[in-house]
Amino acid sequence: MSDHLMNTYMRQPVTFIKGDGVWLWDANGDKYLDALAGVAVNGLGHAHPKLVKALSDQVAKLIHVSNYYHIAEQATLADKLCEISGMDKVFFCNSGCEANEASIKLARLYGHNKGIDNPEIIVMDQSFHGRTMATLSATGNRKVQAGFEPLVSGFIRVPYDDIEAVKQVAKHNANVVAILVEPVQGEGGINIPKQASAYLEAMRQICDAHGWLLMLDEVQTGIARTGTWFSFQHSHIKPDVMSLAKGLGSGVPIGACVARGKAAEVFTYGKHGSTFGGNPLACAAGLATLNAIEEEGLCQNAEKIGNLIRSEFAAEFKNTPGVTAVRNAGLMIGIELDRPCGDLVKIALAAKLLINVTADNVVRLLPPLVMNENEAKELVQRLAVIIKTFLNS
Ligand SMILES: Cc1ncc(COP(=O)(O)O)c(C=O)c1O
Repeated sequence: MSDHLMNTYMRQPVTFIKGDGVWLWDANGDKYLDALAGVAVNGLGHAHPKLVKALSDQVAKLIHVSNYYHIAEQATLADKLCEISGMDKVFFCNSGCEANEASIKLARLYGHNKGIDNPEIIVMDQSFHGRTMATLSATGNRKVQAGFEPLVSGFIRVPYDDIEAVKQVAKHNANVVAILVEPVQGEGGINIPKQASAYLEAMRQICDAHGWLLMLDEVQTGIARTGTWFSFQHSHIKPDVMSLAKGLGSGVPIGACVARGKAAEVFTYGKHGSTFGGNPLACAAGLATLNAIEEEGLCQNAEKIGNLIRSEFAAEFKNTPGVTAVRNAGLMIGIELDRPCGDLVKIALAAKLLINVTADNVVRLLPPLVMNENEAKELVQRLAVIIKTFLNS
């Protein structure tokens, strides 16, 4: 502990010193089951041997140069991301909010290039896009914005999973240039559109009809989390722009704004940049992560284990009225309670289990993509007892 850290986090009273797969150990030698994976970051679990080797090799060669020069690892990672997504071009940055900043800048520039001087972007209620000024302004949560006014203008908010609302905006506003939306809302409470692929497909149609960009924030849903490389791949559409971060570097900071077609040509020389973005170390982490996901079938595993966890929890809570819903998109799992349940984080920690609570009353689980069946069943058994005890207390 230090008095010299700003008070931005409500930290749990534990310090981890090592990890292996889905397990973490604290300084006392106690072992924890990690069902949060650094908030959807450690997809390969902790200390994955392929990642350790790739990073050690890269550190010994080159950590950073500058985007003044060609970077081989960056080019290879861009090629790989485009291959698995069907997109065309990538801009690398260092985090999810930066990836969204790039998307927002890209959309505004796209609008200006079309002669729209005050471009506006449609965003959703309950969304989360980050904590920089533009991304907190795009975010649909007053708690994230309060105290930071004046907000960045140019965002029009509509309810999530409501195509009619988007159509109404289209009727009345000629300045719209893009929609920015999460395929599944993570921080908002694991909100899955009622017909997820139809929702994206309808937005694709509206964007095409009006010349808007469809921009997906896949920072949390991307990199195999929902059972496909990217969540949009459960549907039949492609976005124009997609933001990535979290799972891409397995903990080495990296973000990416990935674009397709006309959107991929919007940024030209001098329009955007980053000192660290896409440096050799971060890109080596990204490449090792994507290769391991592919070699070990982790998209399929995320789907299989996520569905197993959801069905086991559904069975556990069949006669538990305090649990109002159990839902998942791959290994994004939400257990909704009928009351605020933030205290569960501390209770679970005391039981050596790492979980998260979001939107006040949703237990959120984002386990490593490498979780196996036994570990999944252990997670369900341990957490079900904790939630039932909490509800009865
Ligand atoms: C959907 C989404 N977008 C953006 C972000 C912001 O990412 P970062 O914290 O890396 O800036 C997050 C983080 O939780 C997220 O879930």
